[in-house]
Amino acid sequence: MDPELMKALTEKMKDVTFTMGEIQGILFPATTCEIWDQIYNFQAREDDILISTFPKAGTTWMQEIVDLIILNGDVERSMRAPCFVKVPFIEINVKPIPSGVEAANAMESPRLLKTHLPIQLVPPSFWEKNVKVIYFARNAKDCMVSFFHFQRMNKVLPDPGTWNEYFSTFLSGNIAWGSWFDHVIGWWKAKNKHQILYLFYEDMKEDPKREIRKISKFLGKNLTEEALNTICHHTLFDTMKENPMANFSVLPSFIFDQSISPFMRKGKVGDWKNHFLVAQNIIFDEVYKKKMEGSGLHFRTEL
Ligand code: A3P
Repeated sequence: MDPELMKALTEKMKDVTFTMGEIQGILFPATTCEIWDQIYNFQAREDDILISTFPKAGTTWMQEIVDLIILNGDVERSMRAPCFVKVPFIEINVKPIPSGVEAANAMESPRLLKTHLPIQLVPPSFWEKNVKVIYFARNAKDCMVSFFHFQRMNKVLPDPGTWNEYFSTFLSGNIAWGSWFDHVIGWWKAKNKHQILYLFYEDMKEDPKREIRKISKFLGKNLTEEALNTICHHTLFDTMKENPMANFSVLPSFIFDQSISPFMRKGKVGDWKNHFLVAQNIIFDEVYKKKMEGSGLHFRTEL
């Protein structure tokens, strides 16, 4: 990170306490709420590609994959900058770092953009410009575990409390970016109304090549077998864990304290089994059944 920016950030973070605010009943960092008008009025461009996820669904993984597809598997060019610089995060606003809107506005086309916004809060210009969106969904149990550990180490989000406390908070939807259920269902219902490719983390883990082919087709790219193999290798969990442009190690520890929990934590399907108590699993399955009923949406929690 630029030393001047780092110095300014260090100063700023000393006496800042991050608080949460609300947009249409959904929790967001207060700094996002402060510039909500700018975010909602964001001007998309026709050749943008938007990656949308509920937090911890594998956003960074998808970003690396799509960036490499656009670059025809050119690993060297994909390492040009950290993932959070290459792909502006539309609704993020941590001053003195340029906000996601500012970073995106300053970027040349074609742009790859990221959002965690629920469908109803997506800036309308994305639909007006008929932008291609890749929605990457991950099962709720693993998302919950991943988000719990992320909130422990991410100093820009509230402390999650104990695992037992977090379990209830997550299920209530009273967390940053709102309810997992509403998010995945909202995007699922919208998928035929816009250019949305809806993919699953579990499918990507099962057969990355198959899923990467789907994305290439959606983006109108024809990759060689060699490029496909390179992308598969470069986006493996173990490769990305060691990649400083993808593992967030360039962010200072007063933002992401990776000594508490690494950003590239486990990257597995089914880690929830190491966290959920038997009783929690029963409660979860009951809530899940009610909330997902009739949605036509199915997740796998193990492979
Ligand atoms: P875990 O905490 O379960 O390990 P996001 O980028 O949306 O914040 O998601 C982060 C989650 O995706 C973390 O999950 C992280 O380990 C996982 N992840 C990142 N890169 C991955 C990869 N190449 N393969 C599998 N999982 C990956």
